[in-house]
Amino acid sequence: MRTILYTGKGGVGKTSLSAATAVRCAELGKRTVVLSTDAAHSLGDSLGAEIGTTLTPVAPNLQAIEIDVNLELATNWGKIQEFITRFLQARGFEEVMAEEFAVFPGMEELFSLLKLKEYHEKQMFDVAIIDCAPTGSTIRMLSMPDIMRWYFEKIFNLHRRVVKAVRPIAERMTKVPLPSDDVFFSMQHLYQRIDGLREILCDSAQSSIRIVLNPEKMVIQESHRLYTYLNLFGFSVDSVYANKVFPPQMKNSYLSDWIAVQKRHLTACTESFDPIPTLKAELFETEVVGLERLSRFARHIFGDRDPSAVMYQEKPIEIIKEHGNYVLLVKLPFLDEKDLGLWVKGEVLIIQVKNFKRNFFLPRALASRQLKEARYVGDRLRITFGGKDGQGKR
Ligand SMILES: Nc1ncnc2c1ncn2[C@@H]1O[C@H](COP(=O)(O)OP(=O)(O)O)[C@@H](O)[C@H]1O
Ligand SMILES: [Mg+2]
Repeated sequence: MRTILYTGKGGVGKTSLSAATAVRCAELGKRTVVLSTDAAHSLGDSLGAEIGTTLTPVAPNLQAIEIDVNLELATNWGKIQEFITRFLQARGFEEVMAEEFAVFPGMEELFSLLKLKEYHEKQMFDVAIIDCAPTGSTIRMLSMPDIMRWYFEKIFNLHRRVVKAVRPIAERMTKVPLPSDDVFFSMQHLYQRIDGLREILCDSAQSSIRIVLNPEKMVIQESHRLYTYLNLFGFSVDSVYANKVFPPQMKNSYLSDWIAVQKRHLTACTESFDPIPTLKAELFETEVVGLERLSRFARHIFGDRDPSAVMYQEKPIEIIKEHGNYVLLVKLPFLDEKDLGLWVKGEVLIIQVKNFKRNFFLPRALASRQLKEARYVGDRLRITFGGKDGQGKR
């Protein structure tokens, strides 16, 4: 199954592009699903159809779903959330606050994506298109698997070992609740599904992220930051969409200065993302809603091309061997070196880019080696691991 995620700032045209791509893929005979993980769903408005929280047929080969993010959260996280809430309450948190703290931002959207894993396993569709919430939420959603992994491996695993050993005594001595096997089981099951999802989304041959923007300074700047974070978390961007470009017919109108400004931004934007292709979409004479207009919109952008094709493929994160050393290469474009932080804690390498941190669990081959050097060269962070296996003191 081919998976495509459209993301970008609010109002740029993510929903329209998601819906248009889906409509066109279905027309080309592909079994297609388009799903929205944005709690403020507008997929139904775009497709001009009533869309439910379960798969809803919209056209031949096309189904759509507006996921109930709260229901997904309750189903997947309910038991664990209950435990964390009780745990925090026992430590003096008020119930409402404890409940809030037991949910991390980005979780609802991530759990919505678990549907994708289900479709993948059942081979129900050829193409899945995801209409994401605006930038900040998407980054939090995509960074979530990593956080969950850290949480699970560092806290839960350890905790579980401790709990097993101390439960008989601890339960008599403390009021702080200990997690039951039930909670651990839920956590482990959830973790495995999330990890499977992460694998699908990080495989650039089957999954691509697409950035939608408008040719305006602030939107482009935000898109650059988005692109940097997507690379940090290992997601591959295959194309950029410059939407709402003023058509040439608008020349000699009140907007003619705007046309010149857009043109400048468009050129700069295309160059900045090169070799990732930037596709253009003009501002239509009216809103792009309903199956017919969406199909026209898709053909305007993609022509005869298959909109689900992989437009460009790259690996944001790679490990290469060089002069007997291992080098971890992380693509981090549009970045000032001063916004970059790096630490190693045991077998975890932490890379911080402005407000976002990524914990890399180092593969065995690297974890046993010494971190020799870290340099930011071109648009890549190069982290060299030297030393022979087994000598890895830091
Ligand atoms: N190229 C376009 N021409 C005309 N209207 C557009 C175009 N792209 C998007 N729109 C309209 O702009 C509005 C916002 O688009 P939408 O796809 O909902 O953005 P987002 O999902 O990014 O918030 C919608 O009313 C949509 O119909
Ligand atoms: Mg939208």
